[in-house]
Amino acid sequence: MTDTPIFQLENVGVDYPLPSARKGDVAGVVGLDGVDLTIPRSGLTVLAGPSGSGKSTLLRVLSLFQTPTRGRVVFEGTPVSSSPRRRRALRRDSIGLVFQTPTENLLPHLSVADNLHAAAQSARRRCDPAALLDRLGLGGTEQWRIGALSGGQQQRLAFACVLARGCPVVLADEPTSQLDDSSASHVLDAIALLQAEGVAVVASSHDERVLEQGSRVFRLRAGRVIEEENEP
Ligand SMILES: Nc1ncnc2c1ncn2[C@@H]1O[C@H](COP(=O)(O)OP(=O)(O)OP(=O)(O)O)[C@@H](O)[C@H]1O
Ligand SMILES: [Mg+2]
Repeated sequence: MTDTPIFQLENVGVDYPLPSARKGDVAGVVGLDGVDLTIPRSGLTVLAGPSGSGKSTLLRVLSLFQTPTRGRVVFEGTPVSSSPRRRRALRRDSIGLVFQTPTENLLPHLSVADNLHAAAQSARRRCDPAALLDRLGLGGTEQWRIGALSGGQQQRLAFACVLARGCPVVLADEPTSQLDDSSASHVLDAIALLQAEGVAVVASSHDERVLEQGSRVFRLRAGRVIEEENEP
């Protein structure tokens, strides 16, 4: 394993068009503004900050779903290509994102077990649904419909689907936002196991339980990183 950072962002900015924008308008909403940061491979990196500060935007940029308006993203020492095909291949093989809205990770017409199989197959892998579900406290739900799961159960299944892909980088957008202490502990344990396996984990969160487990915390405000705290 090398010491090359997993991500380096250089002066990254994202502008969104104003909801009322017309063609040719230049004013926009700031998603990210001049973000410079380095994320090491080891440990849990947490993105914190108030609602609207840019956490989800930053995770979408890191996951290569979103191309920034400005700046450069370097993944494992190599600048990320602008080619959609190459970005898709990197996403498929290397980066898993648990979305803030869990249904974005799930296929509603498939059972719980088939969602896990589909996620594994998308990365050309196989998985053991029962073991993954047990790990997230969802044992016995293999044959359930997605619509029969509660919000918190869907959130944990979305996390399990990303685990099923076996990516070396896992990004999670507020992965405990809908969970009580006991359900959250399954996600926190799964994150700790990923860390022990050498998987790089970046999670956005307001949750003290996640912040406490973090090796470093980047605090965002209005699209900028205003503070970096590292574990003493
Ligand atoms: N698709 C979009 N179109 C237009 N503006 C957007 C879009 N996505 C985000 N924004 C704007 O970008 C800014 C950052 O949003 P983002 O969702 O990244 O924040 P966040 O920190 O994840 O917030 P939350 O804690 O509420 O999830 C906000 O002002 C938001 O309105
Ligand atoms: Mg968000």
